[in-house]
Amino acid sequence: MKFLPVLPALTTLLLLALLSSCDKTSTDPKDPPGGQVDSIALYRSVFTDPARCASCHPSHYEEWQTSMHAYAMTDPVFLTLTEIGQQRSNNQLDQFCVKCHSPFATLLKEVPPGFDPTGLSTLAKAGISCDVCHLVKVPEIRRGESFSKFNLDGVRRASIADPEPNSFHESEFDHAYGFSDICSGCHDLLSPDRSRFLETTNTEWDDSPYVAMGVECQDCHMPAYRGTAAIGGPVRDNVHRHYFVGVDYPLVDFPGKAETIAAVGQLLENSVTLTVSAPGSVAAGDTFSVQVRIKNDRTGHDIPSGSIFERQMWVELIVRNALSGEVYFSSGLLDGNGDLRNHHSEEVVNGIVAEDSALALFNGIPRDDSGQETLFFWEAKSVQRNTIEAFKSAIIRYPLTAPGQPADLEAAVRLRFRSFPPYVFRAIGQEALLPELRIFDMASALQTITVN
Ligand code: HEC
Ligand code: HEC
Ligand code: HEC
Ligand code: HEC
Ligand code: HEC
Repeated sequence: MKFLPVLPALTTLLLLALLSSCDKTSTDPKDPPGGQVDSIALYRSVFTDPARCASCHPSHYEEWQTSMHAYAMTDPVFLTLTEIGQQRSNNQLDQFCVKCHSPFATLLKEVPPGFDPTGLSTLAKAGISCDVCHLVKVPEIRRGESFSKFNLDGVRRASIADPEPNSFHESEFDHAYGFSDICSGCHDLLSPDRSRFLETTNTEWDDSPYVAMGVECQDCHMPAYRGTAAIGGPVRDNVHRHYFVGVDYPLVDFPGKAETIAAVGQLLENSVTLTVSAPGSVAAGDTFSVQVRIKNDRTGHDIPSGSIFERQMWVELIVRNALSGEVYFSSGLLDGNGDLRNHHSEEVVNGIVAEDSALALFNGIPRDDSGQETLFFWEAKSVQRNTIEAFKSAIIRYPLTAPGQPADLEAAVRLRFRSFPPYVFRAIGQEALLPELRIFDMASALQTITVN
């Protein structure tokens, strides 16, 4: 599904005229004079704490509460990077980060540069709260620019065609909630100067065969189940989970943390198919190769996707003597600091361990004006994408030389994933979070090679 193209100028003008006359039903900048104070008071009277929804929608609340949407404004990495961003830009970034991670915090003017995250209202802290999604003015959604226009009439919309009435809010069916475009305000990310998209999950999906297959974001990230959508409501076949599981999990105490970690592990085990091929036997001293193929056959977009600057998906290959355990070849191992052995490893830079020249790493590399890699993705002028598109494969060949004597070799392969590498945490002064980092094994395989 695509949203309607931008309306012709004349209609837009007419529409704006109409909107400005229909008192206080929108968050348009054209709202009546009297200014910001009134608007903020109005926002506060309409935008509601998720806890209020919990009284009638307990399942939706309990699930959402564990999600990265609820975590978006608590996320210590987010808060640290936002602060670094303001410092590096002389506060020019302003609302750039928060407008997506907590659209209401921006509208309520709670987050000037240098804001104190402990002093925020419950609503601002709730990040991407229920009302962010259920009050958004769908036709005003702009790809990569978050949500900024909301319905202030308090009508909550989603995809129940015949909602039962209730004492708290009016309900209305909007078919857009069943489609990926509703996510595109945030899951594509337009750079601060609006010149390029730096994160492109929605675009990757748009360009994938999933569109023709009718498989939307919701089908994988909000699976349907049979149950009630509200206390006392009818049993329906099509109620949707609100866990929004991806690859991230909370790094601080947070509701459902252990369950989220388990769910991430399960999703990652069901993302791709790994196949390894190697000759069954080779002659002593001969060259041969181990081939690893990763097919992205179950992910609705590239893998990794979104925040690819921090993500690491990589291949670990260890070829050893099956009997003695002696290692003949390895790639994808970590250094003493837990980093992969590339140019980001302090031990490689200091000559303590050798560089892993065969490393197969999937991620994204942001580059600045001069083509240099930067740690700060929002400053990127270009992005080098080392990702695998939906239904495409990556093939990695490791050329090897067999030992000079007969032996039984074992080639052990693991496809591994983590959401952050340790060097990033060290660079931003978040060493305290290092023990929270986890590596997930997505798939593994073992091949034996007889050397005659
Ligand atoms: C990131 C956006 C987002 C957030 C945050 C969100 N929802 Fe939803 N919600 C949706 C979408 C999208 C649907 C429809 C899914 C579909 O039809 O495929 C939906 C559906 C619903 C429905 C209709 C029944 C159903 O499950 O389909 C209810 C009720 C609901 N949400 C309540 C809530 C409550 C309460 C919260 C907060 C605790 C919340 N939502 C947070 C996006 C969101
Ligand atoms: C007093 C109880 C009550 C409260 C409080 C409440 N809701 Fe509802 N809501 C309902 C009922 C009942 C339905 C209809 C369920 C059905 O027909 O299956 C509903 C339906 C919805 C729908 C689906 C609309 C549609 O047609 O698809 C959304 C979205 C929703 N609520 C969001 C929220 C949000 C967000 C909050 C908190 C800001 C909230 N609700 C608070 C009772 C409530
Ligand atoms: C208003 C902005 C916004 C909207 C709209 C939005 N998201 Fe998100 N989403 C985010 C942010 C921000 C995060 C990450 C928060 C963090 O980790 O700090 C996130 C995280 C996620 C994650 C977890 C990613 C991970 O790595 O674990 C999934 C999955 C997800 N969103 C799916 C969806 C889907 C599906 C929709 C549409 C129904 C949607 N989102 C709509 C902003 C949004
Ligand atoms: C066919 C199922 C499927 C569909 C459709 C799908 N996803 Fe995903 N998504 C996955 C899987 C599997 C993962 C975990 C692997 C990965 O990181 O890419 C994932 C991961 C993610 C992540 C975390 C990515 C990362 O590497 O940091 C986000 C964010 C996300 N999805 C959002 C979306 C959005 C938005 C849409 C719609 C435009 C969508 N997904 C469509 C299956 C799907
Ligand atoms: C257009 C909306 C948008 C903007 C603007 C935005 N983010 Fe995000 N952010 C997201 C989404 C969506 C995700 C989840 C993507 C994923 O998991 O792949 C996310 C995830 C994150 C995460 C957690 C995951 C990770 O690995 O990094 C951090 C930290 C983060 N963003 C920091 C920032 C900072 C700092 C800024 C400002 C410089 C910013 N974001 C601006 C939408 C946005």
